[in-house]
Amino acid sequence: MASYDALFEPFKLTDEVTLPNRLVIAPMTTWSGNLNGTVSDQELAYYKRRAALAGLFISGCIAVSPTGLAFDHQFIAYDDAVLPRLKRLAEAMKSGGSKAILQIQHGGSEAEPKFVLFNQTLSASAVPSFSNPEVIPEEMTEEQIETVVHEFGIAARQAIRAGFDGVEIHGANHYLIQQFVSAYFNRRTDKWGGPLENRLRFSFAVLDEVQSVVRKYADKSFIVGYRFSPEEVHRDSGYTVEDTTHLVDGLIDRGVNYVHVSQNNIQSVPTGQKGNNETIVHLLADHIGKRVPLIAVGGIHQPEEAAAGLRDGADLVALGREAIMEPDWTAKVRAGETGSIRVTLDPGSQNELVVPDRLWKIITQRNGWFPVD
Ligand SMILES: Cc1cc2nc3c(=O)[nH]c(=O)nc-3n(C[C@H](O)[C@H](O)[C@H](O)COP(=O)(O)O)c2cc1C
Repeated sequence: MASYDALFEPFKLTDEVTLPNRLVIAPMTTWSGNLNGTVSDQELAYYKRRAALAGLFISGCIAVSPTGLAFDHQFIAYDDAVLPRLKRLAEAMKSGGSKAILQIQHGGSEAEPKFVLFNQTLSASAVPSFSNPEVIPEEMTEEQIETVVHEFGIAARQAIRAGFDGVEIHGANHYLIQQFVSAYFNRRTDKWGGPLENRLRFSFAVLDEVQSVVRKYADKSFIVGYRFSPEEVHRDSGYTVEDTTHLVDGLIDRGVNYVHVSQNNIQSVPTGQKGNNETIVHLLADHIGKRVPLIAVGGIHQPEEAAAGLRDGADLVALGREAIMEPDWTAKVRAGETGSIRVTLDPGSQNELVVPDRLWKIITQRNGWFPVD
């Protein structure tokens, strides 16, 4: 029987924080908050059921601004009234020994016009949304940029007040921060657009703001991570993995505590790469050279796939869909019961898996996303 001891080695994330193992729960939106933007009871139960899976547990993304709501029933950070239930979320996520990280997000042009303030979405430039080209955002003014940067700081402050161990800045998956990095979505000619150096300015401004809040209100153990998509393959003018290495260097120079590369397949190689077929994870790990921990994710179902991610250079590996389908994943791997790991969704298992109604509906109905029995 194979041993997966490597997954269960402790890992020193920062000078102050050592994680008990190499496993992470990837951030996953639940579409299940209460209508006033608070965390619902169904969400608390869902997170609690998964609290013993990993050393680092990242929440679904919370909206930092009324201008940035991206999901129906998304939970919000910008109102003090949400704090008591946010505290309960932190408690639920920490109840199995994980560090709890709140992922903070602004949807930008990917936000839903019908959910945001004045029904007008914002972005770096007035370029139609990636997922819904009928939605045309308004180009942000300097004032609006400053406000959103400040709102990321407020969200970090809320995370501290609620008792989270850290925040993850959501710079991936086509949302506002990535829209600034992308030369396709960012057509600005001021200091926030143009050459890569300018397009990265917003990412760094958000990190600087979050860190200044953390220095002021949290102790040294508070974690600040950053998630990015490593390349933009959907447009001719998309940014590349090489561009991303500059983002990563800037984040490291500013003292980020970890970086998290968002992918659907942990083994992906850069688009159009010819030659030695090194994975994006491997290239990034090589470039980073252990200056900061790297989290990798994408398509991990069996422990061997997780262990392979570590061998490829990742310091930590994250489970997304698998953590929904198999809340006992880690216990089964530890017990050597890998044959019984569930890798598909049984439509009759919602209660047993403790999945909120709205999340369950979405994942069982959206074709090709989750393998449904
Ligand atoms: C239901 C669901 C919700 C997601 N929500 C988020 C999110 O809030 N923030 C984020 O950065 N990624 C989100 N993702 C992407 C995952 O974090 C992960 O990168 C992706 O699912 C690939 O990993 P997997 O193959 O292990 O599922 C979501 C994925 C799923 C399945």
